[in-house]
Amino acid sequence: MNLIKVKNYEEMSRAAADLLLAQVREKPAGVLGLATGSSPMGLYKNMAESGADFSKVTTVNLDEYCGLSADNPQSYRYFMNENLFSRINISMDNTHVPDGMAANPDAEAERYEKLIEKLGGVDLQLLGMGHNGHIGFNEPDEEFVAETHRVYLAGQTIKANSRFFASPGEVPTSAITMGIRTIMQARKIIVIASGNDKTNILKKALYGAITPQVPASVLQLHQNLTVVTDCLE
Ligand code: F6R
Repeated sequence: MNLIKVKNYEEMSRAAADLLLAQVREKPAGVLGLATGSSPMGLYKNMAESGADFSKVTTVNLDEYCGLSADNPQSYRYFMNENLFSRINISMDNTHVPDGMAANPDAEAERYEKLIEKLGGVDLQLLGMGHNGHIGFNEPDEEFVAETHRVYLAGQTIKANSRFFASPGEVPTSAITMGIRTIMQARKIIVIASGNDKTNILKKALYGAITPQVPASVLQLHQNLTVVTDCLE
Protein backbone atom coordinates (compact mmCIF):
# COMPACT_ATOMS: atom_id res chain seq x y z
CA MET A 1 0.00 0.00 0.00
CA ASN A 2 1.16 3.48 -0.84
CA LEU A 3 0.10 5.82 1.97
CA ILE A 4 0.09 9.55 1.26
CA LYS A 5 -0.48 11.49 4.47
CA VAL A 6 -1.67 15.06 4.00
CA LYS A 7 -2.61 17.87 6.37
CA ASN A 8 -6.15 18.67 5.34
CA TYR A 9 -8.96 18.29 2.81
CA GLU A 10 -7.41 20.78 0.37
CA GLU A 11 -4.10 18.93 0.30
CA MET A 12 -5.89 15.61 -0.11
CA SER A 13 -7.91 16.99 -3.00
CA ARG A 14 -4.82 18.31 -4.77
CA ALA A 15 -2.70 15.19 -4.23
CA ALA A 16 -5.47 12.83 -5.36
CA ALA A 17 -6.34 15.01 -8.37
CA ASP A 18 -2.66 14.91 -9.40
CA LEU A 19 -2.78 11.11 -9.35
CA LEU A 20 -5.91 11.00 -11.51
CA LEU A 21 -4.51 13.57 -13.92
CA ALA A 22 -1.26 11.58 -14.21
CA GLN A 23 -3.36 8.54 -15.08
CA VAL A 24 -5.17 10.49 -17.82
CA ARG A 25 -1.84 11.68 -19.24
CA GLU A 26 -0.45 8.14 -19.15
CA LYS A 27 -3.51 6.62 -20.84
CA PRO A 28 -5.66 9.31 -22.47
CA ALA A 29 -8.26 6.77 -23.64
CA GLY A 30 -8.39 4.96 -20.30
CA VAL A 31 -11.27 4.12 -17.99
CA LEU A 32 -11.64 5.98 -14.69
CA GLY A 33 -13.88 4.61 -11.96
CA LEU A 34 -15.43 7.50 -10.05
CA ALA A 35 -17.20 8.10 -6.74
CA THR A 36 -19.61 10.72 -5.40
CA GLY A 37 -20.04 12.22 -1.92
CA SER A 38 -18.20 14.92 0.03
CA SER A 39 -14.75 13.36 -0.25
CA PRO A 40 -14.15 13.83 -4.00
CA MET A 41 -15.73 17.27 -4.47
CA GLY A 42 -12.45 19.17 -4.03
CA LEU A 43 -10.61 16.67 -6.18
CA TYR A 44 -13.14 17.14 -9.01
CA LYS A 45 -12.77 20.91 -8.71
CA ASN A 46 -9.01 20.55 -9.15
CA MET A 47 -9.49 18.24 -12.12
CA ALA A 48 -11.92 20.68 -13.73
CA GLU A 49 -9.56 23.60 -13.19
CA SER A 50 -6.54 21.71 -14.54
CA GLY A 51 -7.55 22.25 -18.16
CA ALA A 52 -6.53 18.63 -18.86
CA ASP A 53 -7.81 16.85 -21.94
CA PHE A 54 -10.57 14.34 -21.11
CA SER A 55 -11.84 13.99 -24.68
CA LYS A 56 -10.91 10.32 -24.93
CA VAL A 57 -11.53 9.32 -21.30
CA THR A 58 -14.35 6.96 -20.31
CA THR A 59 -15.78 6.98 -16.79
CA VAL A 60 -17.83 4.47 -14.82
CA ASN A 61 -19.32 5.49 -11.51
CA LEU A 62 -19.52 3.18 -8.53
CA ASP A 63 -23.18 3.48 -7.74
CA GLU A 64 -26.58 5.16 -8.04
CA TYR A 65 -29.71 5.34 -5.90
CA CYS A 66 -32.72 3.39 -7.13
CA GLY A 67 -35.67 5.62 -7.93
CA LEU A 68 -33.78 8.85 -8.61
CA SER A 69 -33.63 10.18 -12.17
CA ALA A 70 -30.70 11.99 -13.77
CA ASP A 71 -32.40 15.37 -13.29
CA ASN A 72 -32.97 14.79 -9.56
CA PRO A 73 -30.35 16.92 -7.74
CA GLN A 74 -29.84 14.10 -5.21
CA SER A 75 -28.97 11.52 -7.87
CA TYR A 76 -25.37 10.58 -8.39
CA ARG A 77 -25.69 11.18 -12.13
CA TYR A 78 -26.72 14.77 -11.37
CA PHE A 79 -23.83 15.12 -8.90
CA MET A 80 -21.30 13.94 -11.49
CA ASN A 81 -22.68 16.20 -14.23
CA GLU A 82 -22.58 19.21 -11.89
CA ASN A 83 -19.24 18.60 -10.21
CA LEU A 84 -17.21 17.24 -13.07
CA PHE A 85 -18.63 16.24 -16.43
CA SER A 86 -20.14 19.62 -17.37
CA ARG A 87 -16.85 21.28 -16.41
CA ILE A 88 -14.43 19.23 -18.51
CA ASN A 89 -14.25 18.31 -22.19
CA ILE A 90 -15.42 14.72 -21.71
CA SER A 91 -17.93 13.25 -24.15
CA MET A 92 -21.12 12.62 -22.15
CA ASP A 93 -21.59 9.38 -24.10
CA ASN A 94 -18.42 8.12 -22.44
CA THR A 95 -19.72 8.75 -18.91
CA HIS A 96 -21.52 5.86 -17.26
CA VAL A 97 -23.58 5.72 -14.05
CA PRO A 98 -26.00 2.89 -13.23
CA ASP A 99 -29.55 3.84 -14.26
CA GLY A 100 -31.44 4.49 -11.03
CA MET A 101 -34.74 4.52 -12.93
CA ALA A 102 -34.31 1.10 -14.51
CA ALA A 103 -37.57 -0.85 -14.20
CA ASN A 104 -35.55 -3.94 -13.32
CA PRO A 105 -32.58 -2.98 -11.09
CA ASP A 106 -31.21 -6.54 -11.18
CA ALA A 107 -31.07 -6.51 -14.97
CA GLU A 108 -29.52 -3.04 -14.87
CA ALA A 109 -26.84 -4.28 -12.47
CA GLU A 110 -26.06 -7.14 -14.86
CA ARG A 111 -25.89 -4.75 -17.82
CA TYR A 112 -23.52 -2.47 -15.90
CA GLU A 113 -21.21 -5.32 -14.93
CA LYS A 114 -21.02 -6.42 -18.59
CA LEU A 115 -20.44 -2.84 -19.72
CA ILE A 116 -17.37 -2.56 -17.48
CA GLU A 117 -16.10 -5.85 -18.90
CA LYS A 118 -16.70 -4.62 -22.45
CA LEU A 119 -14.77 -1.44 -21.71
CA GLY A 120 -11.79 -3.61 -20.77
CA GLY A 121 -12.07 -2.99 -17.04
CA VAL A 122 -11.23 0.02 -14.92
CA ASP A 123 -7.71 1.47 -15.05
CA LEU A 124 -8.02 3.54 -11.90
CA GLN A 125 -10.85 3.39 -9.37
CA LEU A 126 -11.40 6.27 -6.96
CA LEU A 127 -13.08 5.40 -3.66
CA GLY A 128 -14.41 7.21 -0.64
CA MET A 129 -15.18 5.26 2.50
CA GLY A 130 -18.36 5.25 4.57
CA HIS A 131 -18.25 5.53 8.38
CA ASN A 132 -19.19 1.85 8.53
CA GLY A 133 -16.42 0.90 6.11
CA HIS A 134 -18.62 0.64 3.04
CA ILE A 135 -17.12 1.14 -0.41
CA GLY A 136 -19.51 1.97 -3.19
CA PHE A 137 -22.71 0.84 -1.49
CA ASN A 138 -21.23 -2.46 -0.35
CA GLU A 139 -22.48 -2.38 3.21
CA PRO A 140 -21.18 -4.47 6.14
CA ASP A 141 -22.55 -7.96 5.65
CA GLU A 142 -22.00 -11.66 6.28
CA GLU A 143 -20.28 -12.04 2.93
CA PHE A 144 -18.74 -10.02 0.13
CA VAL A 145 -20.96 -9.64 -2.94
CA ALA A 146 -18.79 -9.97 -6.03
CA GLU A 147 -20.64 -8.35 -8.91
CA THR A 148 -22.62 -5.18 -9.52
CA HIS A 149 -25.91 -5.66 -7.68
CA ARG A 150 -28.91 -4.03 -6.06
CA VAL A 151 -28.38 -3.35 -2.38
CA TYR A 152 -30.63 -2.25 0.48
CA LEU A 153 -28.90 0.51 2.41
CA ALA A 154 -27.83 0.21 6.05
CA GLY A 155 -29.64 2.42 8.56
CA GLN A 156 -26.34 4.21 9.32
CA THR A 157 -25.84 4.99 5.63
CA ILE A 158 -29.37 6.33 5.25
CA LYS A 159 -28.77 8.52 8.31
CA ALA A 160 -25.36 9.74 7.04
CA ASN A 161 -26.71 10.50 3.57
CA SER A 162 -29.82 12.24 4.85
CA ARG A 163 -27.72 15.40 5.15
CA PHE A 164 -28.21 15.80 1.40
CA PHE A 165 -32.01 15.34 1.60
CA ALA A 166 -34.82 17.36 3.23
CA SER A 167 -35.46 14.47 5.67
CA PRO A 168 -34.20 10.91 6.29
CA GLY A 169 -37.54 9.65 4.93
CA GLU A 170 -36.58 10.95 1.48
CA VAL A 171 -33.33 8.96 1.24
CA PRO A 172 -33.83 6.05 -1.17
CA THR A 173 -33.62 2.70 0.58
CA SER A 174 -31.85 0.84 -2.22
CA ALA A 175 -29.12 1.43 -4.76
CA ILE A 176 -27.18 -0.25 -7.53
CA THR A 177 -23.49 -0.64 -6.73
CA MET A 178 -20.41 -2.19 -8.25
CA GLY A 179 -19.58 -5.32 -6.28
CA ILE A 180 -16.41 -6.08 -4.37
CA ARG A 181 -14.86 -8.06 -7.20
CA THR A 182 -15.83 -5.37 -9.71
CA ILE A 183 -13.94 -2.86 -7.55
CA MET A 184 -10.99 -5.15 -6.82
CA GLN A 185 -10.48 -5.84 -10.53
CA ALA A 186 -9.52 -2.20 -11.13
CA ARG A 187 -5.86 -2.06 -12.03
CA LYS A 188 -5.21 0.77 -9.56
CA ILE A 189 -7.29 1.96 -6.60
CA ILE A 190 -7.10 5.30 -4.82
CA VAL A 191 -8.91 5.78 -1.52
CA ILE A 192 -9.47 9.27 -0.17
CA ALA A 193 -10.54 9.91 3.42
CA SER A 194 -10.65 13.19 5.31
CA GLY A 195 -11.71 14.25 8.80
CA ASN A 196 -11.39 12.90 12.36
CA ASP A 197 -14.66 11.06 12.03
CA LYS A 198 -13.06 8.72 9.46
CA THR A 199 -9.91 7.88 11.48
CA ASN A 200 -11.26 4.84 13.33
CA ILE A 201 -12.81 3.17 10.34
CA LEU A 202 -9.79 3.92 8.13
CA LYS A 203 -7.45 2.27 10.66
CA LYS A 204 -9.77 -0.73 10.90
CA ALA A 205 -9.97 -1.00 7.11
CA LEU A 206 -6.22 -0.71 6.49
CA TYR A 207 -4.82 -2.59 9.47
CA GLY A 208 -7.67 -4.68 10.90
CA ALA A 209 -9.06 -8.08 10.00
CA ILE A 210 -10.17 -8.57 6.41
CA THR A 211 -13.88 -9.14 6.80
CA PRO A 212 -17.14 -8.36 4.97
CA GLN A 213 -18.18 -6.62 8.21
CA VAL A 214 -15.70 -3.90 7.14
CA PRO A 215 -16.02 -4.04 3.35
CA ALA A 216 -13.08 -1.66 2.76
CA SER A 217 -10.77 -4.09 4.57
CA VAL A 218 -10.68 -6.19 1.39
CA LEU A 219 -8.60 -3.42 -0.18
CA GLN A 220 -5.63 -4.69 1.84
CA LEU A 221 -5.46 -7.47 -0.76
CA HIS A 222 -5.20 -5.11 -3.73
CA GLN A 223 -1.84 -5.00 -5.50
CA ASN A 224 -1.89 -1.31 -6.38
CA LEU A 225 -3.62 0.62 -3.61
CA THR A 226 -2.92 4.26 -2.77
CA VAL A 227 -4.54 5.94 0.22
CA VAL A 228 -4.56 9.74 0.41
CA THR A 229 -5.69 10.92 3.83
CA ASP A 230 -5.46 13.52 6.56
CA CYS A 231 -6.89 11.01 9.07
CA LEU A 232 -3.62 9.34 10.09
CA GLU A 233 -0.82 10.90 12.15
C1 F6R B 1 -20.22 7.28 -3.33
C2 F6R B 1 -19.90 6.06 -2.62
C3 F6R B 1 -19.76 6.00 -1.14
C4 F6R B 1 -18.99 7.18 -0.54
C5 F6R B 1 -18.91 7.06 0.98
C6 F6R B 1 -18.20 8.24 1.61
O1 F6R B 1 -20.27 7.06 -4.73
O2 F6R B 1 -19.77 5.06 -3.26
O3 F6R B 1 -19.14 4.79 -0.80
O4 F6R B 1 -17.70 7.21 -1.09
O5 F6R B 1 -20.19 6.98 1.52
O6 F6R B 1 -18.98 9.37 1.43
P1 F6R B 1 -18.43 10.82 1.81
O7 F6R B 1 -17.32 11.11 0.85
O8 F6R B 1 -19.61 11.74 1.56
O9 F6R B 1 -17.99 10.77 3.22
